[in-house]
Order: sequence, then structure tokens, then C-alpha cells
Amino acid sequence: MALLQILQVGDERLRQISQPVTSFDLNLSNLLNDMKETLIKAKGAGLAAPQVGVLSRVFVVNVEEGYFEFINPVILGVSGSQYGVEGCLSVKGKWGDVKRPKKVTVKAQDRFGKWFKIVAKDFFAKAICHEYDHLDGKLYIDIADNLRDEDAEE
Ligand code: NI
Repeated sequence: MALLQILQVGDERLRQISQPVTSFDLNLSNLLNDMKETLIKAKGAGLAAPQVGVLSRVFVVNVEEGYFEFINPVILGVSGSQYGVEGCLSVKGKWGDVKRPKKVTVKAQDRFGKWFKIVAKDFFAKAICHEYDHLDGKLYIDIADNLRDEDAEE
């Protein structure tokens, strides 16, 4: 396993549309293992492949409910809304307030290609929506209110 470099806002790769995964092979497993290590080291809630320069529809999430890998995710439905603070490992030192669905139903493939479905709520739903946006070249700062420096939180 290896720590990956996390791209920062301004890097054009963060603005591109990621492509579906077609090979559930060792390369994918290695990427996922490295993303997990990188996410945990960075103490983040989620990390998407384009953030480490890989334009594939892959993200990982580490939340209270557990650690999850999403490959080729499809959002099947959303409901309700929540409004709260967000940050991003690709936008260091900033926070902003974002409106997200309260609940999201998503299907995705695991690292072996098997489809699964998850209904996520609250923080978990927010993390999935945030990471999903990365796959379409979107960053939370595009939609955040009151974008502020981390220091201002104190
Ligand atoms: Ni992010």
C-alpha cells in the first residue's frame, strides 16, 4: 500500500468527468487499498479517485456506519434536506455550508464487481453526495455558502 498525493483545487483533473470502471482487477484493488490508507491518514470522511488523479468512478467513505467502497455508483433517489458544514481534502483549510439531501439511496459495485444497495442518512448521505459530485468534476465550494478559512471556526 502507498499514500497517494491528494490534488488541490486548481488542478484541472478535479474538474473532469470520471469514467466508469470496467475491469475489476488487481489495479482496482491496489487503488482502493491506497485510497483507504490515504483517507485514514488524512482523517477524512471520504475520498474520490479523481482527487488522487485517477479519473475513474470510484470513491470511498469512512463514517460511523463503517468503511465503504463505491464503484460506478448510481444515485437511485434522494429525500429531505440537511444544511451544514463541509470541507474537502482537495480544498485544504476551508469550510462552507452546503444543502444536501437528508437521505440518499445509492447502488454501486464493490471491488469484485458485485452490485449492492445502501440507504444512507444524515452525515453518511452528505458524504456520499459530496464524493459522488467529485466524479462529475464538481466541488462543494461551487455550491457552499459562507466559505471560510478553517481558523475562523475557532
Ligand atoms: Ni471532497
